[in-house]
Amino acid sequence: MFAVQFDRFGPPKVLTVGPFPEPHPGPDEVRIAVRAAGISPVDLALRAGSNERLPLPHVPGVDAAGVIDEVGAEVTGFAVGDEVFGAVALSQLGGASAEFAVLRFWSLKPPSMSWVEAGAAGTSIETATRALDVLDVRPGTTLLIDGAAGGVGSVAVQLAVARGARVIGTARPESQTFLADLGAIPTTYGPGPAELVGALGVERVDLALDVAGAGSLPELIALTGAPTSVLTIADFSGPELGVRLSRGEVGGEPDGRHGLALAATLSVEGRFRVPVQEVFPMARAARAHEVAARGPRQGKLALTAD
Ligand SMILES: NC(=O)c1ccc[n+]([C@@H]2O[C@H](COP(=O)([O-])OP(=O)(O)OC[C@H]3O[C@@H](n4cnc5c(N)ncnc54)[C@H](OP(=O)(O)O)[C@@H]3O)[C@@H](O)[C@H]2O)c1
Repeated sequence: MFAVQFDRFGPPKVLTVGPFPEPHPGPDEVRIAVRAAGISPVDLALRAGSNERLPLPHVPGVDAAGVIDEVGAEVTGFAVGDEVFGAVALSQLGGASAEFAVLRFWSLKPPSMSWVEAGAAGTSIETATRALDVLDVRPGTTLLIDGAAGGVGSVAVQLAVARGARVIGTARPESQTFLADLGAIPTTYGPGPAELVGALGVERVDLALDVAGAGSLPELIALTGAPTSVLTIADFSGPELGVRLSRGEVGGEPDGRHGLALAATLSVEGRFRVPVQEVFPMARAARAHEVAARGPRQGKLALTAD
């Protein structure tokens, strides 16, 4: 099969497209003929050498959508030919940007979702769902999402709104309309969340989700009144401040995989979309990684397999 891959760590230009051994599913996995795959921060980090023990050559990409062509022996309810979207095992950290990919968790792709939307979304939906579950976001909650315009944030805004929460989202000035269209009350991340939220006239913020990992945790604690009201997915200093750090498939915490089926349903109802900022063919994966390293981010970047 063909696959985007790299055999040495370095800048985007180390990415090539060429032959790679075909993967096959384990008992509880499915293999798909990939139609589209997502690009995530972890792809860029691994390519740059964040894990020197990563076996090379490596195929980047954790999210993909496509048509099932092999089904693991213990999988029930899915068959060859089903159109699905999902993610590879997070511990596997790659394999999606290829002709075939093995998914660890997935859901049926609704017709309302395009291939690029579905291919880009799996891990962002899982992560956002996990974070909202751990924070226990309920109807009437006022939730601030710091870093709301990116892959995880843009999905988290919509899933929180669907739970009946009031969502304040931070993003760059050029992404304010984008955030409002997703259902958030937008604000920028200039002087600090507390000051900016005060200017919005919001009387209180119950919970905060830090997606950006940009060092705002002390302010988010002050804003919500307690470190236990804040969750981060990107700031490893969180636990030192009493803030929960949710990492997925680490420490046995509940996962957010059930969020994929919910997102599919909300998509059919017109209440959820995966914002895809730009799409590249896999042959231009190096260019896609260059673009992904720059802001402003508005949703996801995606690769198509054709
Ligand atoms: N723990 C987990 O399970 C898990 C899972 C998935 C991802 N992650 C991590 O979560 C982070 C976000 O992932 P992602 O996929 O959403 O990344 P992304 O698509 O690159 O988005 C990152 C967002 O952070 C915003 N941002 C950057 N600097 C900021 C600042 N100073 N204040 C507020 N927002 C800022 C960016 O806005 P601009 O582009 O406008 O600057 C962008 O919207 C990454 O570090 C990723 O590795 C963790």
